[in-house]
Amino acid sequence: MNYIGSKHRLCSWLKQQIHKKVGKDLSNKVFCDIFAGTGAVSKAFKNDVKTIISNDIEYYSFVLNQNAINNHIEIQDANLYIQKLNDLVPKTDGFIYQNYCLGSGSQRCYFSDANAQKIDAIRAKIQEWHVKKIIHDNLYFFLLASLLKSADKIANTTSVYCSFLKELKTVAKQEFILKADDFICTKNSHKVYNQDANELIRTIRGDILYLDPPYNQRQYGANYHLLNTIALHDNFTPKGKTGLREYHHSLYSKKSKVHDNLEDLIKNADFRYIFLSYNSEGFLSKKTIKTMMQKYGKYSFTKKEYKKFHTLETEDNRAEKTYEYLHILEKNR
Ligand SMILES: C[S@@+](CC[C@H](N)C(=O)[O-])C[C@H]1O[C@@H](n2cnc3c(N)ncnc32)[C@H](O)[C@@H]1O
Repeated sequence: MNYIGSKHRLCSWLKQQIHKKVGKDLSNKVFCDIFAGTGAVSKAFKNDVKTIISNDIEYYSFVLNQNAINNHIEIQDANLYIQKLNDLVPKTDGFIYQNYCLGSGSQRCYFSDANAQKIDAIRAKIQEWHVKKIIHDNLYFFLLASLLKSADKIANTTSVYCSFLKELKTVAKQEFILKADDFICTKNSHKVYNQDANELIRTIRGDILYLDPPYNQRQYGANYHLLNTIALHDNFTPKGKTGLREYHHSLYSKKSKVHDNLEDLIKNADFRYIFLSYNSEGFLSKKTIKTMMQKYGKYSFTKKEYKKFHTLETEDNRAEKTYEYLHILEKNR
């Protein structure tokens, strides 16, 4: 997924830095990715550590991580279920078609009519199987994550859902095919939460805490509202031109709140090592973070030049660079 702030391309560098500080062998460590997003970082460590604790406040992210992280044993007949879902008859009275497609008269164009009708049919069937206990939770989240990722690929947007394109773009015209999402099998089990990081931190403990909070005013709940709507499968009145739902407003995306909120998280973390990713263009300066973190232990810092996130790549912005900072704290305990 082209996700705001995704660490997909930075994972190998992050791993290098974490190994440098904590050591080569992480097999007895508990690793917490408390702002997990797509789960890119949790996935990178899933095979190396004893337990992953993965968390995000957004429900779509919880679904993605229930599959990517919580699922760790092969699921029988997974592809058979994918096939059954791909064979369903499109649904014309579903929520996505009725509210987010031109054909229904909604005046919104997030998906082609045919693709939205398929998404609706698949989402309804996954729910029906789950309610009737035909599928267990592991298979439910595997299928839901597969649906979210497959739908995201053919959405008529510039990767975020705060607006849609007027005309269907080429990938949005392609026929929707449900593709199986993957997950890594491990012998150990893992934990996935859907909580506010500052609440969760008071209830968990471990060895390595990775923090990747939002660094500017962009609210994930607004930018990915349609993924939440597909994942939650609930009923509400979509608002305005973009069809927004009520969404969570993160304090990490509020300039006046972020400092105290981050300090609260660090202060209450029962983890020996804390690694904080923060963009050079974020609300908090490098110096501010250093001053805050060094109150709680031994502080160090490293950085990497990084290609800037753009919803739409153009000739002009393709090469734009920014810095990803990694603040490191070995906490006094
Ligand atoms: C920069 S993104 C993380 C990206 C992730 N590392 C990845 O590679 O996909 C920040 C994430 O923090 C989540 N978030 C924002 N406020 C939060 C909070 N108070 N508690 C937990 N998660 C939060 C957002 O939903 C978003 O997924």
